Amino acid sequence: MLIFESHAHYDDRQFDPDREELLSSMEENGIGKIINVGSDLAACKRTLDLMRQYPFVFGALGIHPSDIGDLSEESYEWIKSSAVLPKIVAIGEIGLDYYWEKDPEVQSRQRYWFCRQMELARELALPVIIHSRDAAEDTLTLMKGIHAEQIPGVIHCFSYSPEMAEEYVKMGYYIGIGGVVTFKNSRKLKETAAHIPLERILLETDCPYLSPEPNRGKRNSSLNLPYVAKEIAALRGIAEEEVIKATYENAMRLFIKAGK
Ligand code: NI
Repeated sequence: MLIFESHAHYDDRQFDPDREELLSSMEENGIGKIINVGSDLAACKRTLDLMRQYPFVFGALGIHPSDIGDLSEESYEWIKSSAVLPKIVAIGEIGLDYYWEKDPEVQSRQRYWFCRQMELARELALPVIIHSRDAAEDTLTLMKGIHAEQIPGVIHCFSYSPEMAEEYVKMGYYIGIGGVVTFKNSRKLKETAAHIPLERILLETDCPYLSPEPNRGKRNSSLNLPYVAKEIAALRGIAEEEVIKATYENAMRLFIKAGK
């Protein structure tokens, strides 16, 4: 039974000391496929290197809302031309982050580039990986405004209410669930993980961040995903294997190019 890791950042410098050793141990530990997700432009470029080096690593290209300073017409064109590579399976991560950004003018630029990158995904017929933090209302309004229900995608590291999860599920979106679901104080996320359709859940780490219990606070990696699967299984009263199998199939359905 293999795990599909839908959101990792192995380009991060926290992996510099042992990246090769760690990635080489994935397959023997049951991690079948990994999507390395771009955040800034340098991370996008390193994502291309990683997916060339490892057959089981795929890539997503996009600029995170906190890094939109990296976006220009030139870098946008670079993303557009690179995203046609066979192993680029999504545009991401893109979205809104009002937790780290309080300046209304910069927030408005985040919305502009979020829209542009959503339109890019539509144009390229690729799914999106969406980051949304402290921006629940604007994210949903913007997505409804551009008919995001026509663009498949995932709300990664979902942090809003179970009701909001329902809204996204109704739009056809997947919900990315990671280490936070194992935290004792994550009541809303546990409720979401227990009640949304299993066909809509993706497993993710967002590593090196957000290690699940019992490794909370340490550097995260895809090797911790069984703890996440186990928690979701316990919340739903089903077997861990069922969660692993369903989330693998879900990811293959969403990220079509990962199956080719
Ligand atoms: Ni991320």
